[in-house]
Amino acid sequence: MTTIHKVRKAVLPVAGLGTRFLPATKAVPKEMLTVVDKPVVQYVVEEAMAAGIEHFVFVTGRNKGVIEDHFDIQVELEATLRERGKTVELRSLEDMLPKAGATSFTRQQAPLGLGHAVWCARDIIGDEPFALLLPDMVMHDKVGCLAGMVELYEKVGGNIVAVAECDPALAHKYGIVGKGEALEGGFQITQMVEKPAKGTAPSNYYINGRYILQPEIFDILSRQERGAGNEIQVTDAMLKLADTQPFSAYPFAGQTYDCGSKEGFILANVAFALDREDIKPLVVQELQKLIAKA
Ligand code: G1P
Repeated sequence: MTTIHKVRKAVLPVAGLGTRFLPATKAVPKEMLTVVDKPVVQYVVEEAMAAGIEHFVFVTGRNKGVIEDHFDIQVELEATLRERGKTVELRSLEDMLPKAGATSFTRQQAPLGLGHAVWCARDIIGDEPFALLLPDMVMHDKVGCLAGMVELYEKVGGNIVAVAECDPALAHKYGIVGKGEALEGGFQITQMVEKPAKGTAPSNYYINGRYILQPEIFDILSRQERGAGNEIQVTDAMLKLADTQPFSAYPFAGQTYDCGSKEGFILANVAFALDREDIKPLVVQELQKLIAKA
């Protein structure tokens, strides 16, 4: 039996321009837009931390420096909070901070697609399996999506792709997998297609932005072959890797919010606000009034 190596590192592609959120994203990266009181990217880093990830590789682009600042100590701010006895606020900063030396930042120099962004992390990842988390997708559940995937991975090894069910009318917007034999905690993937033409999707299971991949994916990505939208696609590279390695799907039981869309972003704000006892009562009361008038 082949050894199942631990997943220690995660890649977070954060180079996207965020044009769908202009003018909000003119000077602020889309990953820094807030859901209640945390930036979108922080939810994703916390999900990875909860899954045991030890090193975070951010693939950035121009104007993304503030993401690096967010995951660093802010000496003056923390000193002021300490002086003023603001312990809750101080804790909120300390809890989300990756350990010293546990972050890397590399740049995707040209927007050639998600597969190209992932390939930019190859030297930092090296020869070991890694998690890939797309920060647009924010997961809402008691158990983090990646933690559940790691559990499945430790049983079956290979490559794991998280999926959720979508409205068939929306399948052309995503990567879609074909469903094979059931596994304990998932199913075997028989097919993968990026943005299938309307009416051709092999199922309603869309790739919801979380992956555990073996390092051989980099060899395939280095061929720089273009796919849907004339971009270098991770899904196409995975399909090639599936010729020699197993791919299993992890059906995520929670809710996936696509914070790269306005609707998803607003719904994520509502969902996370309703989890918060301090703000829930007023939010529920006012939402009910707004909905009654809509
Ligand atoms: C990417 C992936 C796609 C996946 C989606 C989830 O697409 O290529 O397979 O379903 O993320 O958000 P993108 O959103 O970059 O078009």
